[in-house]
Amino acid sequence: MEGAGRGRPSGVVDSPPVSAVPVEHIDDLQAYAQSVAGCTRCRLAQGRTQVVFGAGNPHAELMFVGEAPGFHEDKQGLPFVGHAGKLLEKLLNGVGLQRSDVYIANVLMCRPPGNRDPQPDEIEACESHLFRQVELIEPTVVATLGNFATKLLSGRPLGITRVHGQEQETTLGGRTVTLYPLYHPAAALYTPAMLKVLESDFARIPELLGRALVPQPEPELALVPAPPAEQLGLF
Ligand code: URA
Repeated sequence: MEGAGRGRPSGVVDSPPVSAVPVEHIDDLQAYAQSVAGCTRCRLAQGRTQVVFGAGNPHAELMFVGEAPGFHEDKQGLPFVGHAGKLLEKLLNGVGLQRSDVYIANVLMCRPPGNRDPQPDEIEACESHLFRQVELIEPTVVATLGNFATKLLSGRPLGITRVHGQEQETTLGGRTVTLYPLYHPAAALYTPAMLKVLESDFARIPELLGRALVPQPEPELALVPAPPAEQLGLF
């Protein structure tokens, strides 16, 4: 794929039209969320509790894109409300941001069974939902969390270990944005070395947003015990 949001891969059908016309974004976002609440584009519709649409500030300059809902997200209908979400919130607070400042979405809107990896056809089925959210939110920085979001939105196969912390300009939702790949918080939860890298990559977010750097207090990011295996897989 040549850069996400630019060309559609062949074989994608039933995508809502992507309009370049200015819109009332909040209304449109709500209307779009409602329109996809019953989505049956892929097999994940069968096992989900509910579609997990993006959430947060509809005028956010900073948008995060994770992988897929996990156990807690599927139950609550909100992205990043489990352990990974708590860590994401702490990392945000560490750079002077609140969760309510940002918008958070996922590559997939439905939980894969047992938190297995998203399948290529599921990503393809769901990607226009993500691109539409980018288009409506109009962020200036899109931070991709982990491999799946990074590969999809960069349009490149390079893994997160190679590209984390390296911002790049790309076109998403018809606009130039700064794409900023980061390790997934769920992976960093159980790997202290990765958490350090994630913290230092996070520290550059204010600069990417064109804001003054925030003095960094010593983070108190306690590692949490792994969740029961039957519950969450990675998340
Ligand atoms: N991990 C994700 O990628 N997304 C969520 O919403 C929760 C955990």
